[in-house]
Amino acid sequence: MGFRILVTEPIPASNIHFLQTVGEVTVGEQGQFLTEESLLEVIGHYDALLCMLSTPVTSRVLEAAHQLKIVANFAVGYNNIDIQAAHRYNIYVANTPDVLTESCADFTMGLLLASTRRFNKAEQYLRDGLFTQWEPLGFLGMELSGKKLGIIGMGRIGQSFAKRAQAFGMGIYYHNRTKLTPSIEQTLQASYVEDLDTLLSRSDVVSLHCPLHESTHHLIDAQRLSLMQEHSILLNISRGPVVDEQALAQALHQGQIGGAGIDVYEFEPNVHPDLLTAPNCTLLPHIASATHETRTAIGELAASAIAGVLYKKNPSEIPNLISAF
Ligand code: GLV
Repeated sequence: MGFRILVTEPIPASNIHFLQTVGEVTVGEQGQFLTEESLLEVIGHYDALLCMLSTPVTSRVLEAAHQLKIVANFAVGYNNIDIQAAHRYNIYVANTPDVLTESCADFTMGLLLASTRRFNKAEQYLRDGLFTQWEPLGFLGMELSGKKLGIIGMGRIGQSFAKRAQAFGMGIYYHNRTKLTPSIEQTLQASYVEDLDTLLSRSDVVSLHCPLHESTHHLIDAQRLSLMQEHSILLNISRGPVVDEQALAQALHQGQIGGAGIDVYEFEPNVHPDLLTAPNCTLLPHIASATHETRTAIGELAASAIAGVLYKKNPSEIPNLISAF
């Protein structure tokens, strides 16, 4: 019998066509596999799972996945998968690094401009019919040139964003688990700041690009928000739980920081009600990688990892496997 592949949500058609050359493909409906229970019911039938960052691939799911050989996440972040359990059950895990770096960096630049130049407020004003004359004091924002950008998490996306911000004349500072090599630092004209609190207190814009794990959960909490300056902007395109969302909403309501641009949420897809009413923030529905090019490339990478594992290719030749054994 051929391989059975479960794709939890509709993905680009070309990705599905490719997977159909590998095995029998079942594509779930939008939102069908958001719970552990929904996966537990079916997972035992499949050889491969192509899932979303919203799919809870827990230890229970992996234990019930008797035939499963690979979980390929349609995302670079993989905090939704219990990697240790996958190891235990000899199931490979793949993610999709690199292919979304540029779209996410472009997006962060857009979010930065939207947040500092108040695009959403100004557009709403026009749509509400309030634009009756050019106003010298209308919608004043913050200029980027000469400002300090503090990047937290200087991996692929952080670095790519740094290049763009550098072209806008910003000074680049970063905090990361490891310091970059001097030659990369020089190319990006980026300075390492070992102490996170110092970075927060000195930056005009703080941008989060770190993965979510135990040590980054609520990395930005009430205490850290209080270190930021009154005019400073916080951007988050990493993972929602890196920020204490209630504390952020409070800091915005109290005018403790200047604004925020947010693409990811602590309890996604729910957004804290106080954040929805907070001033000076741009809130977007987790779309940083949403370009035709990137989403197709993400699917290609995930699908090729599935093909590689099912065809028993040498794991070292499958570049995007996170766990190999
Ligand atoms: C998107 O958030 C991803 O991790 O790919």
